[in-house]
Amino acid sequence: MVLNDLWYKNAVIYCIDVATFFDGNGDGIGDFKGLAARLDYLAGMGITCIWLLPFYPSPRRDDGYDVADYYGVDPRFGTLGEFVEFVSQARQRGIRVIVDLVMNHTSDQHPWFLDARRSKRSPHRDWYVWSPEKPKDAEKGVVFPGVQKTTWTFDKQAGEWYFHRFFDFQPDLNTENPAVQAEFRRVMGFWLELGVSGFRVDALPFVISNKGAGRPPGQRWQMLRDMRLFLQWHTADAILLAEANVLPEEDLEYFGDRDDRMHMLFNFQVNQHLFYALATADGSTLSQALERTRTRPETAQWANFLRNNDELDLGRLVAEQREKVLSAFAPEDTMRLYGRGIRRRLAPMMGADRRRMELAYSLMFTLPGTPVLRYGDEIGMGDDLKLPDRDCGRTPMQWAAEEHAGFSGSKTIFRPVIREGPFGYPKVNMAGQRRDPESLLNWMERIIRMYKECPEFSWGDWKQLDTGIDSVLALQYSQDGGAVLAVHNLSESPVRTSIEVDHPSGQRLFNLLSNDHSISRSTRHALRLEPHAYRWFRVGSEVSGR
Ligand code: GLC
Ligand code: CA
Repeated sequence: MVLNDLWYKNAVIYCIDVATFFDGNGDGIGDFKGLAARLDYLAGMGITCIWLLPFYPSPRRDDGYDVADYYGVDPRFGTLGEFVEFVSQARQRGIRVIVDLVMNHTSDQHPWFLDARRSKRSPHRDWYVWSPEKPKDAEKGVVFPGVQKTTWTFDKQAGEWYFHRFFDFQPDLNTENPAVQAEFRRVMGFWLELGVSGFRVDALPFVISNKGAGRPPGQRWQMLRDMRLFLQWHTADAILLAEANVLPEEDLEYFGDRDDRMHMLFNFQVNQHLFYALATADGSTLSQALERTRTRPETAQWANFLRNNDELDLGRLVAEQREKVLSAFAPEDTMRLYGRGIRRRLAPMMGADRRRMELAYSLMFTLPGTPVLRYGDEIGMGDDLKLPDRDCGRTPMQWAAEEHAGFSGSKTIFRPVIREGPFGYPKVNMAGQRRDPESLLNWMERIIRMYKECPEFSWGDWKQLDTGIDSVLALQYSQDGGAVLAVHNLSESPVRTSIEVDHPSGQRLFNLLSNDHSISRSTRHALRLEPHAYRWFRVGSEVSGR
């Protein structure tokens, strides 16, 4: 296999909610027409893959994760025709599209559930998970504590209790049922035929775990292989990117050991320890998290992210670590969510401090894996804590210092834009930053360009170099004789450190982002790093491929 064919290994993935990106027809909600009109902006920034949050017909009580039809486009966002038009216009610009695949549950308005609750003999009854009486553990395992009280709810019409891992309007599918599995192969095939390059697989651990009252815990690993094989037979270069916030010991089960399960997983371990490192300037647990999540199968790859559409889940940190991150980045109660996380966007968490934001993004781009940005990250958008739960970080994209941030020409819009304060659209918007060579947007464009010129970051073998201090992380990445180095100073003080480069041309380190090269007589380099400094070096030569 020519590994360079694996496009996702050095992709730049950009996550978009169609609803909040750009309103093309002026009715107050984003749509595919609007998104297509913004493709040149995205191409210019250098992103290579768009991940679309659910855009299917839905009551949208959970922003579309309550799907009412897997084979369509919500009419608010346009038509299937416009979706396909968008996918092919993206392709013309070299941008792939992956879409969210929500297999764990449907909306309670999905025709399957409407049929299932009608009678015990309904053809779809067995597509969901029922119990004649209230299961003993009904209060356990809620995903949204404080908002969701139970995982079992009585349905009057059905005369039985149904299981829902998430909200009560999201009944869990009986994913063990071969008919359900066959249907989801059909769903995958449908979107692949329409040109998508794969799926972001929602809530995967729940999809494959045993469901039903009194069932012992257990996972159906075979389902992962079935999905992978179906996908690959259908569209050889399509991928599965799974949301699976599991412990490192379980990661390999999700990747498989013979390239036969998920291509990519979000690295929740690294994500949480990265925030711990940013909060405390202690990188030691991040460096352990990196070692614990070394991937093995050849085609497997991590997806690295800072913030996503949900709260920043800190559930994998020990209590004392979690407290430190919370007090650094979410000092007030309203900034926290579900007793485990932070609902803010990145820029406000970093106090809009450019050095800290650049440090965080530089880490995201260089840690082993593929970076995943969120819409609005590139301009440092903020949040609106007056909005409930996770909505605070899901406000419309800020395009310009115009009414509704240029998001929509409509009088009223479906969710308010951020208007006031340091993150209000008069101050933070795309158009203003495009004109300003020093803006975060232009920094992001440059960093993406450099990231792409360093395939070693995402393809190479990596090792951590000893820096002698917990606040400095140094990683070396090597591939085909080339090598790059990323050094990060987590601390707000300047530091001196020295590193031993493991490469025959390791005497010469060329800084890829500034003039500050390091030429030494040996492969040991003394470095002086400013507060929150980051350095990207190419070893031996300024030009790759030597
Ligand atoms: C995933 C999504 C989240 C959603 C949940 C239920 O965790 O990221 O936004 O609420 O699944 O589908
Ligand atoms: Ca619209």
